[in-house]
Amino acid sequence: MAAPPKSRIVAIYPGSFDPITNGHLDLIARGSKLADQLIVAVLENRRKQSLFSVQERVDMLNEVVKPFDNVEVGHFHGLLVDYVAERGANFIIRGIRAISDYEYELQIASMNRRLSPGVETVFLMAAEAYSFVSSQLVKEVASLGGNVSGLVPPIIEEHLKNRVSKRN
Ligand code: PNS
Repeated sequence: MAAPPKSRIVAIYPGSFDPITNGHLDLIARGSKLADQLIVAVLENRRKQSLFSVQERVDMLNEVVKPFDNVEVGHFHGLLVDYVAERGANFIIRGIRAISDYEYELQIASMNRRLSPGVETVFLMAAEAYSFVSSQLVKEVASLGGNVSGLVPPIIEEHLKNRVSKRN
């Protein structure tokens, strides 16, 4: 008897990615091994001031995810659970760097489960090397002329330098 068809596992990794850091990239690499398809989804948030536009963030992400065959970049507005349904995804991936992330992540995951009980959130612990790295800190350091190499992919470092030099 033929084996039943295996269902495709599609995961969504949502975030602001303003810009992507090596911590995010590490999660993408690890998340891509857990799913048949991983969609990195940039939130279009008009209320949050960003350094890079949504299109710029999508373009930068597309550059850095090129080595991963099963990773796609998308963007969404509105509720994350609606985007998850629209893309036929099975679960959401989020990273946790420290205990301080936990409360925020628990709130989001619980709200998403209430909104859409079938959608699971899977947490991956950030690699130790990136446990202190956030887009916010990277932007601050770059804007003050500090060195962010090793914290973001080289191509992002270039984009950051160009953007902050125009602003300063
Ligand atoms: O990188 P971030 O800014 O921590 O990502 C936050 C994100 C995008 C995961 C979260 O803000 C989100 O999912 N926003 C979409 C709106 C939504 O679904 N809100 C209800 C659940 S909190």
